[in-house]
Amino acid sequence: MSRRRQIYEGKAKILYEGPEPGTIIQYFKDDATAFNAQKKGTISGKGVLNNRISEHLFTMLATIGIPTHFIRRLNMREQLVRQVEIVPIEVVVRNVVAGSLAKRFGLEDGTALPRTIIEYYYKDDALGDPLITDEHISAFGWASQDEMHDIADMAIRINDFMAGLFAGVGIRLVDFKLEFGRLFDNEFSRIILADEISPDGCRLWDMKTNDKMDKDRFRLDLGGEVEAYTEVARRLGLLPDGAVSTVLDLDEHRKARGK
Ligand code: TMP
Ligand code: ASP
Repeated sequence: MSRRRQIYEGKAKILYEGPEPGTIIQYFKDDATAFNAQKKGTISGKGVLNNRISEHLFTMLATIGIPTHFIRRLNMREQLVRQVEIVPIEVVVRNVVAGSLAKRFGLEDGTALPRTIIEYYYKDDALGDPLITDEHISAFGWASQDEMHDIADMAIRINDFMAGLFAGVGIRLVDFKLEFGRLFDNEFSRIILADEISPDGCRLWDMKTNDKMDKDRFRLDLGGEVEAYTEVARRLGLLPDGAVSTVLDLDEHRKARGK
């Protein structure tokens, strides 16, 4: 084993010191958590799929001019990224009612929103990631107005691009979470997209069946997590045809639960 230094261990990833100054290695674990880590589990093979899916999405986003921390994938579970100072805000983009939005306002799951909604949550596990507004962000100095302008602008561009990308492979992009970081260049910094984009932090529904192809399968004990993540990767063209032995049959999981 290498003796590289571990910088941080999160719920789904470990960060190691990278080979050059200003770089970090992101290692994708199979661990899964939900409900503020009250529910814990393992989804065998998830890390490999998320590494690949996130690589693909970050690479595609770079082609439309979104600056990201991604440099290159190193192996099945690791990618090399630029070191940033993470802005302590989880940016959630919503196209369709689901999850906490449905609960908070008593809305029906699956209702298309009349316009995209961007929400901010303060990234603090101990507080359960509370919903915040621009007022809190500005008053507590979590990000400047210029930074928030860049973040909101990028979030909308990312949503437009990803909604189209997923629609092209029969997947409805219901909602997703983004994290941004500050990339420093001497005393100046600029905002770039960081963390990961994978079925762990997105709601992805099959357009024909409405089957969930994301971490809600784990959150709601639906089963078939790895099959669903595999199918997302396959539809994005990331797995060679025929290489997948597990044929997705989310129908079976649904039937097994009598729903
Ligand atoms: P929510 O409906 O539970 O607020 O989640 C909205 C989206 O954000 C959903 O796609 C899952 C993602 N998400 C995370 O990635 N991390 C989190 O801690 C939470 C609460 C949600
Ligand atoms: N990842 C979060 C947690 O376990 C919540 C979630 O994604 O549902 O704390």
